[in-house]
Amino acid sequence: MGIETVAEALEREHHEIDGGIETFSAALTGGAPDPGPLTRATAALRRHIYLEEEFLFPPLRAAGLVMPVFVMVREHGEMWKILDALDDELRDGAVGASVPGLLRDLQEQLAAHNPKEEQILYPQTEQVLSPAAKGELRELLEAGRTPAGWVCEALRS
Ligand SMILES: [Fe+2]
Ligand SMILES: [Fe+2]
Repeated sequence: MGIETVAEALEREHHEIDGGIETFSAALTGGAPDPGPLTRATAALRRHIYLEEEFLFPPLRAAGLVMPVFVMVREHGEMWKILDALDDELRDGAVGASVPGLLRDLQEQLAAHNPKEEQILYPQTEQVLSPAAKGELRELLEAGRTPAGWVCEALRS
């Protein structure tokens, strides 16, 4: 098996995040679910958005993909607001009444967002990113963390 490309790693993260949300949602119908899969998925989605916006979108914009990147940044803003609401709900360990609706909203957003990235933006990464940029992004995908206080571009004032 060859080394995973940046595009493959980002796509894998989409599936892992979806999987965590699904695991939690399935457990939710059965009563008091373990919040672990969801808190891991929300943290993973924040980091995924951080890596895209800081390391992937700038070179894609520079290569002319300004409009699709603009749309993705706007959608990240919508998702980030749901993540904030979910993290607020989960903070005290209990699952509030608004959680199922927030999860549905997040799943809807992801179902519309991820295929656009996978079909339009990720296929450009091999061409657009320099070998050094690809190496850096691969390392960050492996072990990077979202910097404390980092907020997605659409919600910065
Ligand atoms: Fe994204
Ligand atoms: Fe993505």
